[in-house]
Amino acid sequence: MNSSSNFQLIRPTHVAMIMDGNGRWANSHGRPRHAGHRAGVKAARAVIEACASRQVKVLTLFAFSSENWKRPPGEVDALMRLFVEVLQREVDALHENGIQLRFIGARDSLPTILRKRMADAEARTAANSRMTLVLAVAYGGQWDMVQAVRRIGHKVRAGDLDPADVDESLIDRHRALAGLPAPDLLIRTGGERRISNFLLWDLAYTELHFTDTLWPDFNAEELGAVLDLFGHRQRRFGGVPEQLEAIGD
Ligand code: FPP
Repeated sequence: MNSSSNFQLIRPTHVAMIMDGNGRWANSHGRPRHAGHRAGVKAARAVIEACASRQVKVLTLFAFSSENWKRPPGEVDALMRLFVEVLQREVDALHENGIQLRFIGARDSLPTILRKRMADAEARTAANSRMTLVLAVAYGGQWDMVQAVRRIGHKVRAGDLDPADVDESLIDRHRALAGLPAPDLLIRTGGERRISNFLLWDLAYTELHFTDTLWPDFNAEELGAVLDLFGHRQRRFGGVPEQLEAIGD
């Protein structure tokens, strides 16, 4: 891709992650599933630090999907309580490290106390610019498209928008991650090779990396190896390699 004289690793600006495998990790250690989720929080902390120190500008973590409501009520309840506890405990450190927090997902479906902690964390860290940490909670890619289409529909009905003006950039501005670049790299742990209704619109040109490592075992070292691998990939966005050389990609 590059001659050795101008060789430079490409860095991803936005990394998205599907943190899968907490339950199997707990199982393999003879522990209850909630112990897997707690171990998952530790892994998330290490990955957040590693991304910030490798100049990733946006990190999006899939913490709870629209489909996760189907889990046994006891597990859903434990996860909601864990999210409240994690926000209470970690927001100071995130703030001190210059990290801005943002949440995407169907907030109305979440417990009031969690919604309050989310709003407080967003307000507190709003001015931070080192890295944006997006937590997807009660999020689904299909939900995201529905909310975008609904908001666009309201504008059309109000007479503020002509349907002929609906194009990619308009939809872009109505997606949950509006204002942030699309992910350059998606990492999914836990062995499955699918997107599972994550960022369906945003992942159009994203490089995908799947690892069998269970999320609680995923660490800064493996992340570093994945980022180095990404650095050697050639992204064409539908064009041809010669065009990329011309634009310096
Ligand atoms: C997948 O494991 C993980 C989840 C459903 C979400 C919970 C994630 C965490 C607690 C980690 C980080 C949290 C934050 C707030 C940053 P699984 O239960 O689907 O595992 P399995 O496929 O092995 O059963």
